[in-house]
Amino acid sequence: MNKSFGNDDPGLERAIGELYQPEDDVLREIRERARTAGLPEIQVAALDSRHLEVLVRLTGVRKAVEIGTLAGYSGVSIVRGLQPDGVLYTLEYEKKHAEVAAESFRRAGVSARVRQLVGSALDLLPALSKEGPFDFCFIDADKESYDRYLDWAAANLRPGGVVAGDNAFLFGELKEPLGSGSSPAARAMYAFHRRLATSGEFRATVLPTGEGLAVGVKL
Ligand SMILES: C[S@@+](CC[C@H](N)C(=O)[O-])C[C@H]1O[C@@H](n2cnc3c(N)ncnc32)[C@H](O)[C@@H]1O
Repeated sequence: MNKSFGNDDPGLERAIGELYQPEDDVLREIRERARTAGLPEIQVAALDSRHLEVLVRLTGVRKAVEIGTLAGYSGVSIVRGLQPDGVLYTLEYEKKHAEVAAESFRRAGVSARVRQLVGSALDLLPALSKEGPFDFCFIDADKESYDRYLDWAAANLRPGGVVAGDNAFLFGELKEPLGSGSSPAARAMYAFHRRLATSGEFRATVLPTGEGLAVGVKL
């Protein structure tokens, strides 16, 4: 029997949410303050933030990178999974988002373990390399650059390090084969998946979360 890919039964989602309580008061406050500040509501889902914390915990991460901070919702979850001496470098293009995130990290009591970098990720990443190699890299910014973010991760993760990419289904667009009408985001996402899946540099999979969470271990 070919079992299904994921499960979209809302009853099961509710039951798992009630059992695992992935959003505590700290994360709820971040989500609500970000909305009040007018930030787009595009942070990871509560259970996806728990996925991130657990992935980081099981990888024994000391040095993590996040591309796309927004209000710090996923960032707080990543820091929660770090080793006690661990650090998160998180990159954000929008100054206002970075300011809201700074407040989130302060309220969560994790500011000392977070280095916020403000600017275009593709401009910032080359200089960040000198802090590597890294144990974990979470990609969650502009989809048009996913392939280039993976290039950076492949070069800067240690063997055994983990790359995770959110929105791996590209909001359903991944169903369409690439063609002359494909968007730049679709081209980048296909290139991202092809490298993760077939280059031999990673052992990778896609967890069938609502958005699709691609996860690869660097070999
Ligand atoms: C989906 S949100 C990140 C959500 C966050 N990871 C969370 O779950 O809490 C994407 C963020 O990436 C930022 N972003 C988009 N393009 C960027 C770029 N080229 N460099 C750095 N940040 C970028 C956006 O401003 C936005 O805040």
